[in-house]
Amino acid sequence: MTNVKDVYPNFITLGEALDLSEEKVRELQLAHMNKFRTQMGLAAGLTFDIKRAEGCHIWDADGNKRLDFIGDVGVYLLGHNNPFIVNGVKRFLDTHPLSMDPMALKPVTAAFANNMAQITPELTRTMTNGGGGAEAVEAALKMCRIAAGRTKKGKTRVVSTLNAFHGKTLGAVNAGGKDTWRRWQAPMPGHTYVPYGDADALEAELSKGDVIMFIAEPIQGEGGVVVPPDDYFYKVRELCDKYGTYMVLDEVQAGSCRTGYIWAHKYYKDLVPDAFTFAKAISDGVLPVSGLQAKEELYMAAYGSEESAMMHTATYQDNNISACVALLSLQYMIENDVPAKVRAGSKVIFAGLNKIRDRFPDVLEEVRGRGYMIGLKFGADKDGVGYAPRVGTILAQKHLVHTMTSTNNDTILRVYPNVATTNEDFEWFLDALEQTLEEVTATTGIATTKAA
Ligand SMILES: Cc1ncc(COP(=O)(O)O)c(C=O)c1O
Repeated sequence: MTNVKDVYPNFITLGEALDLSEEKVRELQLAHMNKFRTQMGLAAGLTFDIKRAEGCHIWDADGNKRLDFIGDVGVYLLGHNNPFIVNGVKRFLDTHPLSMDPMALKPVTAAFANNMAQITPELTRTMTNGGGGAEAVEAALKMCRIAAGRTKKGKTRVVSTLNAFHGKTLGAVNAGGKDTWRRWQAPMPGHTYVPYGDADALEAELSKGDVIMFIAEPIQGEGGVVVPPDDYFYKVRELCDKYGTYMVLDEVQAGSCRTGYIWAHKYYKDLVPDAFTFAKAISDGVLPVSGLQAKEELYMAAYGSEESAMMHTATYQDNNISACVALLSLQYMIENDVPAKVRAGSKVIFAGLNKIRDRFPDVLEEVRGRGYMIGLKFGADKDGVGYAPRVGTILAQKHLVHTMTSTNNDTILRVYPNVATTNEDFEWFLDALEQTLEEVTATTGIATTKAA
């Protein structure tokens, strides 16, 4: 056997990689990965070596315990290193062969698909990927386009919402409602954007008769935790039925119990989309997994024949190990009544946040969201510089509390606790936020109401 160091003296083995100093990792990332992204993270105090993670806490290389109230943008809803999921995956690895054989039977994926259909009996078909949310969105776009091409001839457009975020692969980024992420790319025809929450604007587009699908998030995440009016999605359903357009909900961020409902659209009694996507929290960050759930009619319109069955395949599609993670997450969510826990915890944190908002109304303008998908809307100082990024940085650097601004709206600081969060953690967070706002108002001379 050849020693790898004899061939490439600077090759780093896994054992060595796990022991690299923080400084060395930084150096390697700056030299070989996305340099500016690493620099930005370092400057904000967000890039450090995570040595241990459990529940809603992470520990850095200096042994500092940190409060993770963003969970890698909504991934860790069931808690870091959730033992039920991690041990289940270990059991799978110890007892089953790893196979990506595209034609082999896939017992765990088949079981996961069965389980999904129990939860949403009106949507009976599942497709999973070994990838991220954008891949699920691509799969949804493609499924609807093929289905429309085969059954709704003449429809050519996709309508989505302004400020939406659906990922950064080509189809997903064009469905996204922010030009910024399409910079330097030639415009892709066939995409139209309407204001989120505005059913009249949607009807104006759908009534033209050429719209294949409408895709929207149940609550916009990257757009700034925007909750639409309560009747919006019922109207969307009606309009999509009226004009023969598929209704797709992108549940990558809001789904998997994040909002206190197993799927975010379950907040709306009897609302059934034609398909929805999932990713992030369904994996609890153990292994990448994403996918979509579709109505029989839509799925079959796309892939329901020998000639079309192979139109969307991928090496890791429907693989057992990703499905194993998703199945375990789903089981954990149901057996531990995660939706109810999220709804209960949400009341506690919203109450604390509303008190803080009342004390600092000129800085913290609004507390919004649903469940553990919370957005804090901050104002800007007299020079027009928004408070949200500054508050996020102080929280991370001084109070070791991690939150994140929304990608498409940096006036919003996102606060995404997880189901392992205790009242003590809420107190840590609320005290830290209050002290941060005291600091911000003291340095900017902003008036606050009297101390609560
Ligand atoms: C609603 C939504 N869809 C899709 C995506 C893309 O997911 P990923 O980054 O895993 O590709 C995201 C990511 O934040 C998202 O919030």
